[in-house]
Amino acid sequence: MGIYICPVCGEKLNISGKSYVCANRHSFDISRHGYVNLLLSKHAVSGVHGDNKLMVQSRRAFLEKGFYQPLCDELCALANEYADDGATVLDAGCGEGYYTSAIVEKLDILGKNASVYGIDISKAAVEYASRRNKNINCAVASVFHIPVETGSCDMLVTLFAPYCGEEYFRILRSGGVMLMAIPSTDHLWELKQAIYDTPYKNEVKPYELEGFEFLGSRRVRYMMCLKNGEDIRSLFSMTPYFYKTGVDGQERLSALENIETQADFELLAYRKDDLIGT
Ligand SMILES: C[S@@+](CC[C@H](N)C(=O)[O-])C[C@H]1O[C@@H](n2cnc3c(N)ncnc32)[C@H](O)[C@@H]1O
Ligand SMILES: [Zn+2]
Repeated sequence: MGIYICPVCGEKLNISGKSYVCANRHSFDISRHGYVNLLLSKHAVSGVHGDNKLMVQSRRAFLEKGFYQPLCDELCALANEYADDGATVLDAGCGEGYYTSAIVEKLDILGKNASVYGIDISKAAVEYASRRNKNINCAVASVFHIPVETGSCDMLVTLFAPYCGEEYFRILRSGGVMLMAIPSTDHLWELKQAIYDTPYKNEVKPYELEGFEFLGSRRVRYMMCLKNGEDIRSLFSMTPYFYKTGVDGQERLSALENIETQADFELLAYRKDDLIGT
């Protein structure tokens, strides 16, 4: 049983041939790669369609080299800790499915028989995700209008993607768990020192989130050894600094050929707090 609902009328979607169809006959084709596009143009943020193909490719190339493997391993361990047998898991803003696929594999190896979904507003990213792992149910959709039934997810994963508390609260079942990754204070500190005259440490905001009980955090911190300019620039293009760096910084970045820099993340776990508003 799937969890998709029609983005037009909200009725349940069922597979009919090579499409998802609702009771009101709204129909959405399943692409040859296996994903479905459930993004209505009015929900695409003023013409922005998330990461473009180039951004997706450079993130993919960087992740494939295993630089964020320790984070991925810890995330999968956490997902396993909180996912019961038969869990429905949704990765909101899944990108090209690097972590989504790892979660599928981890839960599968451990016999959890989970159903894993990945949504992203970028069609290019979703296409990669569905090609990467056929066992991810992939859809093009916005995290601000998630086309899945209320209370249908046991676990939600949000990794470096936009946050929509209302939708995450809505789609999680009572007592469902949300896992989130954030950069911690020293993430890429040495790289920032090499690029900026006055580098700043990352600010970590208070953990509390409306509608959720904070369960705990795990820090994942290690050194990364980047041995060529391409990896350094791929990494930099994945960060929010990419768009905010002036000409001087860009020049210093272009000249860098190797660097050792910290990866510093926090994995946060939350439980949907049903007592809110009662
Ligand atoms: C920094 S990437 C992270 C991707 C993936 N979670 C990862 O960690 O590899 C942010 C992702 O959020 C997606 N995104 C941006 N706005 C979105 C929205 N409104 N709804 C869904 N996805 C969105 C982008 O297309 C991009 O794939
Ligand atoms: Zn419909």
